[in-house]
Amino acid sequence: MTRVLVLNGPNLGRLGSREPDVYGSQDLSALRVQLVDEAGDGVEIDLRQTDDEAELIHWLYEAVDTSTPVILNPAAFTHYSYALRDAAALVTKAGIPLVEVHISNPHSRERFRHTSVISGVATGVIAGFGFDSYLLALGAIRRTA
Ligand code: DQA
Repeated sequence: MTRVLVLNGPNLGRLGSREPDVYGSQDLSALRVQLVDEAGDGVEIDLRQTDDEAELIHWLYEAVDTSTPVILNPAAFTHYSYALRDAAALVTKAGIPLVEVHISNPHSRERFRHTSVISGVATGVIAGFGFDSYLLALGAIRRTA
């Protein structure tokens, strides 16, 4: 493993100012710094964010085509995007690890957040640890990839 795709869905580009009581006050560039530090030499962190479902799906195709492990925060798509689920299934069916992560613990929040249509096709799920959810996912990928 030389690269990990860290894919972030809608509204996560607003981290830092978006609901800091839920998501903290750090933004995605701070997350990138933490992941690069955790990854050390030899593993490239390719962190991206989009509000566009199609773009996220195409990045998952890229993961399949390049055999690249994925850390995925699907954000609100978690709860209803069957299209994203099907693309995530392509990744894991190809034997490539895909860890679903959440900054918050969706199960302790509104009822609509209790359902993830992604979890059933993910390799594993880590939620509720703030940015540490991503760092833990990187550790999990290192053990499996
Ligand atoms: C989230 C949880 C989702 O319910 C929400 O829509 C998000 C962020 C999280 O990281 O805690 O946008 O995925």
